[in-house]
Amino acid sequence: MAENIHPIFDTILSTDQKETLLGQKSCVVWMVGLSGSGKSTLARALENALHERGFLTALLDGDNLRTGLNNNLGFSEEDRTENIRRAAEAARLLAGNGVITICSLISPLNSIREMARTIIGDKYVEVFIDCPLEVCESRDVKGLYAKARKGLIPNFTGIDSPFEAPGNADVVVKTAEQTLEQSLNELIDGILPRISSAAANAGNPLGS
Ligand code: ADX
Repeated sequence: MAENIHPIFDTILSTDQKETLLGQKSCVVWMVGLSGSGKSTLARALENALHERGFLTALLDGDNLRTGLNNNLGFSEEDRTENIRRAAEAARLLAGNGVITICSLISPLNSIREMARTIIGDKYVEVFIDCPLEVCESRDVKGLYAKARKGLIPNFTGIDSPFEAPGNADVVVKTAEQTLEQSLNELIDGILPRISSAAANAGNPLGS
């Protein structure tokens, strides 16, 4: 497929150079969880908190991406896989340019998350927003669970489309058992060491 293509990756500015300019280390915070688990709320709160601390961030939210880049995709397994592939490739481009990228997408299957991890590589940090289906459904912030139960939304995650809970996430946040502030603090504690250039350079005597 990539015939007659001549990539110039080795001659463009490196991620290191971008990170040095920005005074930060980039990563991709991949937030996984059911609809209504609190992903978007925490993603927004995390982005605000990092912005206030002087970090350059980007936020890729599933619903937002589905209005543009992914607006030709639905919720079959095939479409969700393509949805995540494009989001992961976009996140890779941003993180490759030094930007701390927060992705908030249901990402329901192990295979889908493995693909994201493979595309993004070492910079992939998986965060499971762990909230029981009953709680997500009782919150029903967008009214989608009620519609799905009435059969008005086919393939709704957790109802008639599977959600495989991640078994090896880097950070697990239990939003049903904590206040937003507690969840956010846990998240910040998990992420800050990975993006602070001083911490990232601690093992390097030259500090470069
Ligand atoms: S993913 O499964 O492909 O990762 P994504 O995060 O992009 O999903 O989109 C999920 C959002 O789409 C939900 O937050 C919800 O607002 C909306 N949505 C609409 N239909 C569905 C559905 N069948 N299943 C899940 N979410 C849906």
